[in-house]
Amino acid sequence: MRKRSVCAAAACLLFTCSVVAQTAEKVRIWREFIEWAERPDSAFTLEGYRSHLNAQGLAASQVDERVALIPKLIESNPEYKAQAAAVGFNRLYRTPDQTRFTLQPNAFLVSKSLELKPGKALDVAMGQGRNAVYLATKGWDVTGFDVAEEGLKIADENAAKAGAKITTVRATFEGFDYGQEKWDLIYFVYTDAPIVDARYVERIQRALKPGGLLLIDRPFRSLTNPPPEWKETEQDKVNALLKAWSGMQIVFYEDTTGYGDWQQTSAKREEYKLRIVRLAARKM
Ligand SMILES: C[S@@+](CC[C@H](N)C(=O)[O-])C[C@H]1O[C@@H](n2cnc3c(N)ncnc32)[C@H](O)[C@@H]1O
Repeated sequence: MRKRSVCAAAACLLFTCSVVAQTAEKVRIWREFIEWAERPDSAFTLEGYRSHLNAQGLAASQVDERVALIPKLIESNPEYKAQAAAVGFNRLYRTPDQTRFTLQPNAFLVSKSLELKPGKALDVAMGQGRNAVYLATKGWDVTGFDVAEEGLKIADENAAKAGAKITTVRATFEGFDYGQEKWDLIYFVYTDAPIVDARYVERIQRALKPGGLLLIDRPFRSLTNPPPEWKETEQDKVNALLKAWSGMQIVFYEDTTGYGDWQQTSAKREEYKLRIVRLAARKM
């Protein structure tokens, strides 16, 4: 009996050691990937990564394994997803004369904010601050956060040029300290934040002052040029945002089609008609 339990304990230890070793190997691969991706000369695509691994002389099976692992790691780990986003968006924000997004403030945010008395606003994933700087020039006290530091740098520069003051913070959706009853307005404009995750929704509701407004302007899949790699998520489901924010007073909702502030590729904006969902909700 004792011998059997010693054997079981040894097997368990071996299994644990193997899981730990596999995890350590994945962490090592991820770090190498990000280090490569952050190099200005690397082509930040899976095919670029494949060429890089081939050039390093890895066996074909190892190359395939690593190339297949990266998207899985990104999907399963929010920290990795944020790191990958930072690499991609930092590159974009560093690109002069980029054509991926408009520099104008978001029209939904502009129109809704005109109905409000300026107060404290939080810009979630502020990018290069096109919206934060606009609100700050209208008298709002704006804090914005983003994982891409190049965006934050431009936001600070643009605020200074506009003679406005904003607060920028480098943080992730999960890591930012939203506080409690702190904001008159929290907005999610073209972000991939977990806005239908019940725990996240609760955090945001808690962070709003009573009477405070939540705004979401969220693009979904292109209708005219659906990207083949697009995966349906909880957020894509019909009325998903309405359900997720049903604890608040919904003052505006539309599930419509139109041209996005951000295109899905650098091709012409008019070729990319999107499904767009907009929501405004008040904390009661
Ligand atoms: C499509 S851009 C939109 C930026 C801005 N809201 C706008 O409308 O111009 C998405 C932004 O989300 C940021 N982002 C992506 N993942 C993030 C994360 N996990 N935490 C914080 N920001 C993130 C990116 O760096 C990028 O600036």
